[in-house]
Amino acid sequence: MRYLRVGCFLLPPYSNMARTFERQQLETSSNAPLELSPQTFARFAGFITGELGIKMPESKFALVQNRLLRRIRDLHMKSAEEYANYFFASANLHEREHFINAITTNKTDFFREPDHFTFLCDVVLPDLGSAATRRGDRFKVWSAGCSSGEEAYTAGMLLGDYATRQPGFDFAILGTDISTKVLHSARAGIYEDSQLAPVPPDLRRKYLWHSLNKAKRVSRIAPDLRRKVSFHQLNFMEQDYPIKDVFDVVFFRNVMIYFEKDVQEAVINKICRNLGPGGYLFSSHTESVADLKIPLKCVRPAVYRKFE
Ligand SMILES: C[S@@+](CC[C@H](N)C(=O)[O-])C[C@H]1O[C@@H](n2cnc3c(N)ncnc32)[C@H](O)[C@@H]1O
Repeated sequence: MRYLRVGCFLLPPYSNMARTFERQQLETSSNAPLELSPQTFARFAGFITGELGIKMPESKFALVQNRLLRRIRDLHMKSAEEYANYFFASANLHEREHFINAITTNKTDFFREPDHFTFLCDVVLPDLGSAATRRGDRFKVWSAGCSSGEEAYTAGMLLGDYATRQPGFDFAILGTDISTKVLHSARAGIYEDSQLAPVPPDLRRKYLWHSLNKAKRVSRIAPDLRRKVSFHQLNFMEQDYPIKDVFDVVFFRNVMIYFEKDVQEAVINKICRNLGPGGYLFSSHTESVADLKIPLKCVRPAVYRKFE
């Protein structure tokens, strides 16, 4: 039998899963067994893919099980079946929010994939930034799938810095995500010093306020910058995005890696409705939009420009 390796887990092929998981039981804190059967996994996987667009192959079994185990413990439930019945029985919007917060992967960093930010400063701002200033418009950036805000605030620090050198330049940043948990953190704008390590010293001095309690080792994004960045909930699977702004730049990085090709194509086309002519979209270097029917041309790896 060929096993699938998932992190430190070895998973049996799906056809053998049922038998294997009859024996394999994880213990909750109350010592009641948690059995995420293949059928229950399939129910949750169907929901995740249908509602969030996130593909859920069998290799994600351990991930789903581990993340739901925490939630089931919090609810003092006895089994995954009990939780599934609770979750699916009613239009349980409150639980849906907890579930989405638990199931999404929110890894992010300040200055992640830093060459994008170099490109923003060296190429995009002298072109589209100057054009926005001449028109008297604000330069607009959308961090689409913003997680806890690091990407949006990284852009904000650089745009704030540019504004001090370019009279008349002004900007606004929007961050959107499906998870209310990360949006809450993003709005608070409080980060541990270890998370802020990639921020250069001159930008730290300008845009970070250290906690007066030195033992805490946290800093907060300065109020002037927080006022420039707003965060809203948005599910990329929605038919129409309720966003009126037209953006100069969209960061859409490390999100579509979770989607199938058809979902990627549909989402990028919807995002492009809010991207101005000549505007830029950044994807992650690990993501490719090759073969997708979208109104973008690749100008360098992981950097795309909307047709004029
Ligand atoms: C790995 S993080 C990427 C964060 C940031 N863009 C970066 O590159 O560092 C992916 C984010 O996409 C969000 N996400 C996943 N599916 C989504 C959906 N259907 N609608 C909106 N956001 C979604 C997750 O909640 C998560 O915060």
